[in-house]
Amino acid sequence: MSIDPLAIKVRAFLDAARHRLETYNHANVEEVLARLGEQATGFEAIRHPEPGSLPVLTYLDQCLDEAMHFDAALARSIADLRPHFQWRQSKAYSDAVLGTGFIENYGWCEIIGPNGFFSGDDFLLGLLMLGPHQHYRDHFHPAPELYWPLTSETEWRMGDEPLAPKAAGTVIWHRPNVVHATRTRGAPLLTLWSWTRDTATPAQLL
Ligand SMILES: [Fe+2]
Repeated sequence: MSIDPLAIKVRAFLDAARHRLETYNHANVEEVLARLGEQATGFEAIRHPEPGSLPVLTYLDQCLDEAMHFDAALARSIADLRPHFQWRQSKAYSDAVLGTGFIENYGWCEIIGPNGFFSGDDFLLGLLMLGPHQHYRDHFHPAPELYWPLTSETEWRMGDEPLAPKAAGTVIWHRPNVVHATRTRGAPLLTLWSWTRDTATPAQLL
């Protein structure tokens, strides 16, 4: 039986992410890794989502250049998967609610999830991008969430905290239903994200 080349690429991404995340001594990262370990990611489980692009992908080269400095293996594995991602947007989001230009500057894809390369069992893992000078304002959801930015110069807040800059590689953990927001400065954002459970309810803006 021949192995699907896409499965090899996706496994390379997951191995690179896992390899780096295993260096963190962080209970929530361990939770993500434990849930990831429970997912069916064998070669036979690979799926081929219909590829889809978005305007925000204009910034992917710039983001990958920066991500190379953070983790070259991970950045390369994302570049290898680039033609295969199905970039998506949340249907409830529009420039009217999030500000002029937001929809041109926002998108996410699933690597594990209903629209991803492995279907996942109440577990999502993917990438999110924002263009420069965007404010993904306060929102919340029941799913516990990891953000792991691969680029720097972005600002994050949750609960009562003010927006604060976080470097590439910072672990950002959102408890269930905690209100949180992300803002970019002059540089675009590429971040890994994961919802570890309770994934059926989408994010809701405040
Ligand atoms: Fe979130």
